[in-house]
Amino acid sequence: MDSASPQNPPVLPPDQLRAARRLFIASAWAFVLAAALGALFRFGIVRADFGPLQAGDLRHAHSHLMLMGWATPALIALITARAPALGLQLPLRATLATGWGAWALALLSTPAFALYGYRAAAIGEAKIPIAAALSGLAMGVWYVFAALVWRALWRARAAGTGHPALRIFSVATLALVVSSAGAWALAAQMITGRGTVLSQQLAVHFFVDLFGIGWLLGGALALLRAELPATPRPFERGALGLLAAGAPLLFLAGMPPAALPPLVRVIGHLAAALSAAGLIALAAPMGRPLPPVLRSPLALLLLSATMLAALASPPVAAWGQVNGLRLLFLHVAFAGALTLTLITLATRRGLAPAASPRLWGQAMAALLLTLVPLTGAWPSFIPGGWETRAALAGALIALALSAGATFHATFLARSPRPSRGPA
Ligand code: HEM
Repeated sequence: MDSASPQNPPVLPPDQLRAARRLFIASAWAFVLAAALGALFRFGIVRADFGPLQAGDLRHAHSHLMLMGWATPALIALITARAPALGLQLPLRATLATGWGAWALALLSTPAFALYGYRAAAIGEAKIPIAAALSGLAMGVWYVFAALVWRALWRARAAGTGHPALRIFSVATLALVVSSAGAWALAAQMITGRGTVLSQQLAVHFFVDLFGIGWLLGGALALLRAELPATPRPFERGALGLLAAGAPLLFLAGMPPAALPPLVRVIGHLAAALSAAGLIALAAPMGRPLPPVLRSPLALLLLSATMLAALASPPVAAWGQVNGLRLLFLHVAFAGALTLTLITLATRRGLAPAASPRLWGQAMAALLLTLVPLTGAWPSFIPGGWETRAALAGALIALALSAGATFHATFLARSPRPSRGPA
């Protein structure tokens, strides 16, 4: 369907586009703050001293802000901006308000995560687990967002106006809601002090894996699919079915092998195979028809899916765990594939200036390349612990470039014009 067709207006009206742009740029500032926390963590590792903070709390503050303050509101901003062209009648103000709610709660909870983690803080006489309470509120906001999307999807289906990308959005939104069960389970264990190391690990992995692969990568794939014509492509439904079947149980494949009974481990490896096959079957055929500027993010998405596919093999999964490949995988998927997809699409659709993808691409390259030597897969033939200093340098370069690009987008760039490419 052509972008100029009457059923498919290419972009939001300018005032509404500006509203989505404000949310996107605010989310990019959350990225910069989260990147600074990541760099501080690396500095702590190099000095072997985290001052008054605990390493685990700092790591948690970083990952929470990246996932909840950057990726989620940025995705909501882009979904809102693309909705009219896909035949999705989302209420603009209410949908953007959920993005702002997620953003504000993520920022508010960051100092609490950094100082106390999930532990209760003494406020006067009371002891309150601040970060857990704010995270609970944030999940309430996700449910409102999901309800808005599902209502609009239901109406689009009833009117027969949907684009195939909407099916991927509906699965991604379902993953967002279901993944929250893991976050509730973790918060309950932290607050009550009940549960074992294993049950906490299971809750974290269930949440991060389903939220990350289902909601974030699923959402990115839907946005990429939305760049292509509405004509259904072969195997699309089947591929989405594979992803939907595998993603909820994928977390079992990332657990330490000794922690789970053999049958449960087999289910985890099978789930990894299904999720990877679904992601690859959805993403690979987009390579040719997508504009060249989107091919690097797509290649990183395929690399993430290939790393997931490797988890299907028990010996490879065990080798990856021993060698600490999870951290590299998380950053290839979320810093590489997801972040670059969001930035590039934001530029294409008028939410970010044209210079952004180049600067962010360099930032993510510096981050990812300096994470590789931290894994055990890298031959450590140069002594002296240079890997941790290189990772600090990579984090600082990524911080400086992403901060520069966000400063430019906020204060220097003229309001960008959306591309008039295919809807
Ligand atoms: C400039 C960019 C970034 C920097 C400097 C950075 C740095 C770090 C550092 C230092 C850690 C802890 C590593 C360790 O445990 O040894 C970490 C973990 C993590 N990061 Fe990032 N990161 C960046 C981008 C991102 C992005 C964009 C996301 C997601 C959208 C993300 C999500 C995570 C997650 C989920 C973890 C694992 C947390 C855990 O195991 O509890 N990071 N990152």
